[in-house]
Amino acid sequence: MYLKYFFKKKRGLVMLSEKTIDIVKSTVPVLEEYGTTITKTFYKNMFAAHPELLNIFNQANQEQGRQQTALSNTVIAAAKYIDNLAVIVPVVKQIAQKHRSLAVKPEHYPIVGEHLLGAIKEVLGDAATDDIINAWGEAYGAIADAFIGIERDMYTVATEQEGGWLDYKDFTVTDKVQESDVITSFYLRPADGNKVPTYLPGQYITVRVKIPGEPYLLNRQYSLSVAPGQEYFRISVKKEAEGQTHEGRVSNYLHKSVQIGDTIEITAPAGEFTLDKKETPVVFLAAGVGITPLLSMVQTVSAEQPKRAVQFIQAVNNGAEQAFKNELTNIHLQDYSLSFVYANPTEADEQHPYFVKKGYVDQELLTNTLKSDADYYICGPVPFMQAVVHALKELGVQEEKIHFEFFGPAMQLGA
Ligand SMILES: Cc1cc2nc3c(=O)[nH]c(=O)nc-3n(C[C@H](O)[C@H](O)[C@H](O)COP(=O)(O)OP(=O)(O)OC[C@H]3O[C@@H](n4cnc5c(N)ncnc54)[C@H](O)[C@@H]3O)c2cc1C
Ligand code: HEM
Repeated sequence: MYLKYFFKKKRGLVMLSEKTIDIVKSTVPVLEEYGTTITKTFYKNMFAAHPELLNIFNQANQEQGRQQTALSNTVIAAAKYIDNLAVIVPVVKQIAQKHRSLAVKPEHYPIVGEHLLGAIKEVLGDAATDDIINAWGEAYGAIADAFIGIERDMYTVATEQEGGWLDYKDFTVTDKVQESDVITSFYLRPADGNKVPTYLPGQYITVRVKIPGEPYLLNRQYSLSVAPGQEYFRISVKKEAEGQTHEGRVSNYLHKSVQIGDTIEITAPAGEFTLDKKETPVVFLAAGVGITPLLSMVQTVSAEQPKRAVQFIQAVNNGAEQAFKNELTNIHLQDYSLSFVYANPTEADEQHPYFVKKGYVDQELLTNTLKSDADYYICGPVPFMQAVVHALKELGVQEEKIHFEFFGPAMQLGA
């Protein structure tokens, strides 16, 4: 609804002036050169002025530079298409889902705007003339308006759906099940006894915890790892870098300190990486803990589209780290093919009836499994997605049939 209003505005009612558009577009090459420096400066200054925002942002993503790159890519894309923002609506929606799942609100936008413009000035120095800063101020206003409108609609849906709520709500851990050496599932029910809302297979929730000794609240997204329609949510968490210098904070806390009966805060399901309802074949490609959204999807196909042809390829280090072997083998579909690819299999792993390959998912394996008219759903570590998406494109699969989810800020795959 809001989008229509926004683009009506764009078509002539409150449009940006030609001059503003020209200036913003002319700054694209400079932004491409300095984008990440600008966004790094932006975050440093914004957190110094507003430390309370550290309760919302993921510091590990900042430390690794992924969030700065994600923001920088989006700002550049917005600048390139400032006279036709409709082109980037799918990207805006994906980001808006993340914002909604983290309770980002309209009052946060002026803070980001102020520090983004401040950072452009600081990094570009004299090159950032008043004209450039004013043009960017106007453009930021238009982009922020688009986000705020889309997010407003998403908040309404999240709140008004059956069992829905606004922002964070307490859920009780009603079961905790070890799925492999590294992955544990948490079954979550509303602490107030209400129903859980339904969701689309592939969506995620944000978990927020207060860890003793950590100065700020920590938020992390976890995909729902079971088909919708249960009386609970289930998330399945991999403990990251256990025992290493930078042990994953939230995942290890969940594994070690959160027990059955404890409560954690979560937001309502969000996300655009969801399964289509087509009848054409579907191929799932999962690596490591990236199986979680795809398991929810394949279970949904099994329940709702038993005639749909499904191929499921699970790549994992070895059988000990492999989660959901039984749930995958228990899928009942008329046309279902399941393959396990182990990077470092034991002898027993190689005897498994679904074992197909030692090593990685590569172009050769994909050539043999390729189905014309199939859609591909992919989730796993960035190098896995890079390799698989690249191979599929090389094999001639159309871009719109390739769907993937990052377990961190979205990146360009460079394929
Ligand atoms: C949409 C979405 C869905 C997701 N679904 C799932 C899921 O189903 N299951 C799942 O397990 N995860 C999922 N994730 C990932 C999850 O949100 C967390 O990122 C993950 O659990 C790690 O969080 P953490 O707090 O344990 O680690 P963090 O403390 O955030 O650290 C993350 C990584 O960064 C490294 N690191 C941290 N600090 C530094 C530093 N200073 N220098 C160098 N390296 C550092 C750590 O070693 C670790 O490897 C999902 C993410 C997204 C965005
Ligand atoms: C027009 C302005 C904005 C743009 C272009 C923008 C862009 C982005 C992008 C590209 C991402 C990464 C999405 C992904 O996970 O793939 C993101 C995430 C995020 N944004 Fe924004 N954003 C804007 C405004 C805001 C505001 C106002 C806030 C609140 C202070 C905010 C808070 C966040 C947070 C907390 C994340 C998740 C960070 C993480 O997980 O590391 N954003 N945003």
